[in-house]
Amino acid sequence: MRILLGNFLLIFAIILCSYTLYTTADIRVLSHNEQIDYGQTLPRIWDSKSYDDGTMVVRIVRKNVTTSINNYLCFHEMLSLRIINTDGTVVEKDLKLDIQPLNYCAFQMVSGGIWLEYMKYVLIRKNQIFIAYYDATDINNPSTYVEWGMVIDYDGNVLSRTNIGLPFVNNTLQIIIPNDQFVLNINREKGFMRYGTGQNNNIEWQQFRVEPDGSITKLTFGELANEGEGIISAIAIRTVDEGYAIAFANTTTAFNATNPLLPQGQLFILPIAYGQNPGNPLLLYQTPVPNLVFVSLICDIAFSGVGQVCTLTALQSNPTGNLPPNTFYIKINFLSSGSVTSFRVINRILPVENVNVVWAVNSLAFGGYLLTNTVTAPTGPSMYGYLFDEDNTDPINWEFPEPQPIGIKGVYQILPNNTLLVSQVENSNSWQFQVIDLPKFDGNRDNGYFNLNVESTVPAIKTTINPNIQNITINFYDPVELSNGLLSIYQLIDNKPYLRQSISQSSCKLENGGKTVNANILGSTFSVSNGNYFIKMDNGFVVDKSYKEPLLGIRDNVWNFNIEPKKDPFAPSTTGLLRLSPEGTSYFDSLSQEQQTNFFNTLLNDLSNAVPVPRPRLTSNEKTQLDLTVNEKQYLISIGIKETNDENDLSVVTVVNNINTMVKNKAQTPIGSGMATRYLDQVYGFNPSPNLWEKYKYRLLGVFLIIGLLIVLFLFAQRRDSNGNNIAILQLGLIIFDLVLDVAFVSSNARDVPVLYIPSVVFVTLPIGLNTILAFYIITQENTRPKFFQWFTAHGKVASVFTVLAGADIEALNILHSNLAGFPFFRAPFSDEAKSKIFWGACINIFIEDVPQVIIQILYRKFTVSYDNIIPLLTLISSAVNLTINIIGRLYQATNRLRHSNGSQGSNDDDTDDFGGLVAASSDASSNKKDLERLEEGENVSREIGLDAVLNKSYNASNGNLGNDQNKNKVYIIFNQRKKSQFPNKCISLPGPKPLPIIGNLHQIKDVPMQNFIDRFSKEYGPIFKVHYGAETWIILNDYEIIRDLLVKRGAIYSSRPYNEAITGIYTSGGKSIGFSPYGKYWRAMRAVAHQALTQKVVDNNYRNIIQTEVKDLMIKFFNHSSKVFDPTDDMRSSLIDLLATISYGQKSEKLSQQIKQMFVGFAQVLNPGNSYFEMFPWIKYIPFIDKILYSYAYKAKYLLDDMSKQLLEDLRQRLKENDGEENSFAAHVLKNMNISTDIATKPYEDSLENDDDDSKKNFVFDEVDFMGLNNAFLVAGTGTTVAALRWIWALLVNHPEVQRKIQKELDECLQGNRFPTPEDDSNLPYLLATIKESFRFRPALNLLLKHSTTKDDIYRGYYIPEKSVIIASFKSAHTSEKLFERPNEFYPEHYLDENGKLKKYDELRDPWAFGRGRRMCVGLHLAERNLITTVGYVLTLFNIENDVDPITQKPIKLDLNYVENKFPKPYKLRFVPRPGVTIEKIMQMK
Ligand code: HEM
Repeated sequence: MRILLGNFLLIFAIILCSYTLYTTADIRVLSHNEQIDYGQTLPRIWDSKSYDDGTMVVRIVRKNVTTSINNYLCFHEMLSLRIINTDGTVVEKDLKLDIQPLNYCAFQMVSGGIWLEYMKYVLIRKNQIFIAYYDATDINNPSTYVEWGMVIDYDGNVLSRTNIGLPFVNNTLQIIIPNDQFVLNINREKGFMRYGTGQNNNIEWQQFRVEPDGSITKLTFGELANEGEGIISAIAIRTVDEGYAIAFANTTTAFNATNPLLPQGQLFILPIAYGQNPGNPLLLYQTPVPNLVFVSLICDIAFSGVGQVCTLTALQSNPTGNLPPNTFYIKINFLSSGSVTSFRVINRILPVENVNVVWAVNSLAFGGYLLTNTVTAPTGPSMYGYLFDEDNTDPINWEFPEPQPIGIKGVYQILPNNTLLVSQVENSNSWQFQVIDLPKFDGNRDNGYFNLNVESTVPAIKTTINPNIQNITINFYDPVELSNGLLSIYQLIDNKPYLRQSISQSSCKLENGGKTVNANILGSTFSVSNGNYFIKMDNGFVVDKSYKEPLLGIRDNVWNFNIEPKKDPFAPSTTGLLRLSPEGTSYFDSLSQEQQTNFFNTLLNDLSNAVPVPRPRLTSNEKTQLDLTVNEKQYLISIGIKETNDENDLSVVTVVNNINTMVKNKAQTPIGSGMATRYLDQVYGFNPSPNLWEKYKYRLLGVFLIIGLLIVLFLFAQRRDSNGNNIAILQLGLIIFDLVLDVAFVSSNARDVPVLYIPSVVFVTLPIGLNTILAFYIITQENTRPKFFQWFTAHGKVASVFTVLAGADIEALNILHSNLAGFPFFRAPFSDEAKSKIFWGACINIFIEDVPQVIIQILYRKFTVSYDNIIPLLTLISSAVNLTINIIGRLYQATNRLRHSNGSQGSNDDDTDDFGGLVAASSDASSNKKDLERLEEGENVSREIGLDAVLNKSYNASNGNLGNDQNKNKVYIIFNQRKKSQFPNKCISLPGPKPLPIIGNLHQIKDVPMQNFIDRFSKEYGPIFKVHYGAETWIILNDYEIIRDLLVKRGAIYSSRPYNEAITGIYTSGGKSIGFSPYGKYWRAMRAVAHQALTQKVVDNNYRNIIQTEVKDLMIKFFNHSSKVFDPTDDMRSSLIDLLATISYGQKSEKLSQQIKQMFVGFAQVLNPGNSYFEMFPWIKYIPFIDKILYSYAYKAKYLLDDMSKQLLEDLRQRLKENDGEENSFAAHVLKNMNISTDIATKPYEDSLENDDDDSKKNFVFDEVDFMGLNNAFLVAGTGTTVAALRWIWALLVNHPEVQRKIQKELDECLQGNRFPTPEDDSNLPYLLATIKESFRFRPALNLLLKHSTTKDDIYRGYYIPEKSVIIASFKSAHTSEKLFERPNEFYPEHYLDENGKLKKYDELRDPWAFGRGRRMCVGLHLAERNLITTVGYVLTLFNIENDVDPITQKPIKLDLNYVENKFPKPYKLRFVPRPGVTIEKIMQMK
């Protein structure tokens, strides 16, 4: 408010200072004191013109007294323009133009005549003035004159110059007569027409247009022939249809009495439409009245009424010459077409004499005329003026006195509002107009529109309107019809008009009998709160209904009004899409990079002006995206609109609506004319990015609903069976969700960014393809396993669905073994190998699916102009979630497997998947805690949950919960954690050498004889400690009491076998071998059968003959070697093979023997601890197919064994058939008496001693693999061990001949040298039996038992011994104990004899440990012993065993009996010297 007041006072002060405005009655004065005083030369008003809004531009001149001569008047050489604004302020502009001085001169042909000037000016636009001037190469030579035009701004800056024509040369006087005139188009924007007499005396005309940038365009031009008696009066006029016309009159003085009707005077009109060439002149009027002279012609638009009006002043001279001529006025109204609509001769009576005969006629914009006549009165130049109503003959006085003084040039100006300003002569450095308002004769039709045809409008002038109006109306007095031109709605911002809408007739309709034009308004047009608007109606927008003549329009800033204040509620920033039209797109493509950037900039500028919105609120990411919804190539571009907190500014919502409306109606809005916006596609409009929630709320709700449903299903599953990996249900949801989104993205969005299309298709189809192949491969492979096949056939549908689903994500297969909700169909017994493949498949998926898809989604986001589609967004989310879960999941799995393998034997399986592991870890925490508490209390806690099934190939068959993989899995995790960190308080970890990462203690123990490092570490860590064989943890027991405590007393825990990939996994088909099967029902069944077949009784009765026969055959071989030294090992081995083959398979042969030997070679490799790759480095097994490479030897050995076994079984069946079942072999016995299935059933993992009731024992079914496995076990377990034992015995005996003699004595006493010993002789052969025992003690084949493993956690002597520990028991301590033996380091058979020479009653500790202890003790013990007793008995009955003789010394070479592990004893050669009387025949005969 204060600022406004300040401004007002300032303007007021300026007005007071610069000029004074005072009134006398109704006469006002506009005077101005010139700022610069040029002394003598006073300022004179030389010309005056006005703009449509009444702003005047007055030319002031100061006489240059030195260059002015009489009628040749020259001025100071500057163009002095005074801009008189409508508020009365005057701006002085003294412009030095670059033109020749002659242009500052004017002259009169006759004194008092009209001034002819070289320089003229036309007001084109504000701050844009057209100056016409002359330029002569030689000012004295008229033929060198050329007329030029230039456009300048108010400061004299030249915007353009152009040659506009040649001047008229008066050939007689040889001077230039600058007679050309300029008539401004009724629409200044269209320029002006220059006309005048040309050099050939014709009337020449040219149309010019001045462009907004100031350049001049020459339009059409032509000339009007001045023929006959010639044109006596011509005038160019502007026409209502925004064109021009030249009206010209001629008269003739040759009155023809014979033809009095010959026209004496004629008025023609030559319409020259804008920018067009004219047709023929049209005759408007002609008269036969003689003696007529047309002295003046004045034409203008008929402001009141239609068309144009010309007033012809005619003088009819009195033929007598006595009377003054009669002056009358002919007023002709005519249409642009030339049709005359009215014609009237008016005898205006002018009450003044002694003035010029010809009065100037001024047509007034509000009706009526002002006739003026300038005379030179004694007081100076004066002007008479009389007003006339349209057709009235009587004058009406004006308010000035008659005559009214006027300036030297007689300048007066009638402004568009009918104000008359008459220039005055001033005697100081000032100038002045006297001002009156002329009456408006048709004032009743004037409603402020400067248009007498317009009665009213809605909105009315100077009102304030609601921004939401949807149409505007214009009421005309008379009916109209719509025509060309536009209604243009502008908003004025800082007095600068901004087009908001232009309405053509197509958006208008006529109402009210044609009197009302109703136009539709776009929602964007009046959107600006407090906006200042005006509506311009083009001339010719409507035509008069009757005459079809264009009507005048409404000028700029006349029909103005305001918009009500409106507060736009806040709306947040947003972005939206525009689309380029096909032309726009190709235009954009044709631009260089830089131009494209500029294009966006221009676009934003255009939009900023059009909306209007401050430019900084508009942004663009300068990206384009192909719109695939249309056939033609069209780009989408994104525009950002920043929010505003100023509620008076347009809110984002309004801006969005405005842009949309404007683009959609671009023909009506500035969008259509913007340099860049013109290329926008109006069909598309502006599509703001949707509020994703609003747009997709139902779909998103659907997604949430599905998530909710999955959670409910999860809870349901938890309730049903909380042990299942129920979270797999969410995983399933995610897999399906991801698949659907991937496909949806490829089909509906991927093409948006062409460069991403192919990659996105590839990275969806490739993984699907590979996953599908892998899934089918896994399932097909698994189906070769009976157990899986059984499950598959039972749950085929589920399996198929998930196999197909695995195409999307191979992990779908994991769900099949998730035990989800405890459903049996989610308990697929996948093999470890399959799980490994799934794991690796999922790992590969990370690289061929997850990572690429995330990258594609990120790039899509980057490349698309707008990211407002739900599919890419959800795809991005799902890809990212998938990637994260997969990476974490895989790491988790890998880590778990490692830990798993680290902490336990024989397990290479881990069922934890991404979710399961996490859930398991938490859900079992509480039970774990309880167990720990119990452990703390020193209790021997055994978890009631087995790991075997979880780990598929695990070894704990004792603990139940078969098939509940997941549950066990969880337990595993918990235990793993415990092993790592949570020892119960009262427990201590076993001591042992510090392991290195990954290799553990391998560097200390690998390739070192086991007993050696056991002895070494025992010294440091005691008799029980642990070492790490790579990832495998071994617990070493090196004390017989400890071994007894654990293996015997706690046999239920310590009697399993660790898993070993080569032995268990491959060679024994998953533990189908008595010696290597886990401690469970399977083992027990096997053991029972083996035991039955190998009891003392069975051995001594059933196998007696076999043993005796084989041993006798061996004796014959020995005898055959008796002449020289030899190594008896091979013969012994062959003999044992034959023996055991006969017992086991019921047959022997050289060929079979060879086969068995080969089998041993393979088995020896399988047993080699150095080959335990998976056990040492469990992570190796995750390398696909690595097992096939690393364990090829094991597979080879297994195939050999299988072939042999199958053949043996076939032979056996055949023999039994042929012999009616008569055969005494163990195999025959089992085959005949037991239920052996030809179906292969896997049992070692499934059995459980918990359920080992009588029924299950009865129902236990052997399969053929079990059967042959058992037979093979006898061979592999019995051959090498017995051979080793015998080798030691021969070695000990040869070094101890005294022992030989004692045994021989005993034998001879008992047998008399006539027969061989039998089992019945045992009681008589105590020394022989004691010797065999002593040899076991003194030099056992091995000090170590086969590896055991624990089936439960245990605490022993405060040490925590976890479940699945590998137990290595060395019984050396027992055999070498001084506590137990009198001479532990000597070979002394008496250890086992009592004082009476009888065999000592065995006690548990002293009895040799070579056959083991506890539940896994050697089952072939009796057979072995009988074999040994028999062999040693036979040998010493027949031979003396003698050392080799040193060829030099001829002394016997004593054998080195030092114990060397694995090389027991060193190879040696002996002689079996037949005892006296022993011949081959004797041997053959002996029984
Ligand atoms: C001098 C000869 C033999 C010796 C020194 C010997 C030694 C052993 C030893 C130390 C064990 C392991 C005990 C354990 O891990 O706790 C064992 C197990 C076994 N032995 Fe023998 N053995 C001999 C002969 C035989 C014969 C002739 C047969 C069969 C005809 C046989 C069949 C077995 C079987 C089947 C097992 C595995 C028992 C199981 O794991 O349940 N052994 N033997």
